[in-house]
Amino acid sequence: MSDAADPVVSTRAGDGILILTLNRPEARNALSTALLARLAEHLGAAEDDSEIRAVVLTGGAKVFAAGADVKEMAAHDAVSILSDTRPRHWKAIREFSKPLIGAVNGFCLGGGNELAMCCDILIAGEDAQFGQPEINLGIIPGAGGTQRLTRTIGRSRAMEMVLAGSFLSAREALAFGLVSRVVPPELTITKALELARVIAAKPPLAVKAAKQAVRASEELPLTEGLKAERALFCQLFATADRREGLAAFAEKRPAKFEGK
Ligand code: CAA
Repeated sequence: MSDAADPVVSTRAGDGILILTLNRPEARNALSTALLARLAEHLGAAEDDSEIRAVVLTGGAKVFAAGADVKEMAAHDAVSILSDTRPRHWKAIREFSKPLIGAVNGFCLGGGNELAMCCDILIAGEDAQFGQPEINLGIIPGAGGTQRLTRTIGRSRAMEMVLAGSFLSAREALAFGLVSRVVPPELTITKALELARVIAAKPPLAVKAAKQAVRASEELPLTEGLKAERALFCQLFATADRREGLAAFAEKRPAKFEGK
């Protein structure tokens, strides 16, 4: 189903894949509160839909997102910002438990970069540019930019982006580990879809556990992370897909996973 007026267009791409496209081209896909709320809503629906195995998030061919909606932000004061609903939407986006693959073309700035960093895997077009330019507005990143960026690309590079507002090219983002692949701009969504299809064919309970375990590494000290990984590993021994996967290997046939 798609709706041109929707700030986030949802398209089923077959094989258990959902594409969510940020759709405010007139504002370079600036993340208005309505857009963030809609994105959270779409991801919530995808969470509950057992047919959806992976989601590709894109801003389309030209721009990923130019950050929070600066015009909307200008209307806030020191009191109203405290009851902003945006943190609730960000939380819902961050907590999406299925694979979320970002396909990034063009500018990926401020809240746009923070949104990209909520994805599990990022594919960038050669034209992508990543930045946290909030400093130029007299503010700082407020949805994970200082935290996730530092953990991902290291302190010195994160400081340069956050303090000086420097942008990273797609190649730099690849070299620094922010994205996993750089492709010609016209292939970004295609590559993200290819990867989503590979993941969607894997046993879903194991995929979910794998995402949870990798995500735990961002939150937990190593000993606790290793415990969390082991607990998830052991849980999968209760699944039919685990029995099927091991049996199929022994019988030299492709496994038929059912998500049970
Ligand atoms: N919010 C609202 N509107 C935006 C916007 C934003 N973040 N970014 C672009 N737009 C609007 C512009 O105002 C313009 O609208 P009008 O046609 O009505 O004037 C339209 O989109 C096109 O923008 P430009 O003419 O500037 O397009 P460009 O291609 O020349 O430049 C750009 C693109 C480099 C992204 C530039 O628009 C820009 O620098 N945008 C702001 C980037 C920014 O500062 N992001 C951080 C926001 S704060 C934040 O993100 C904090 C947080 O989440 C916690």
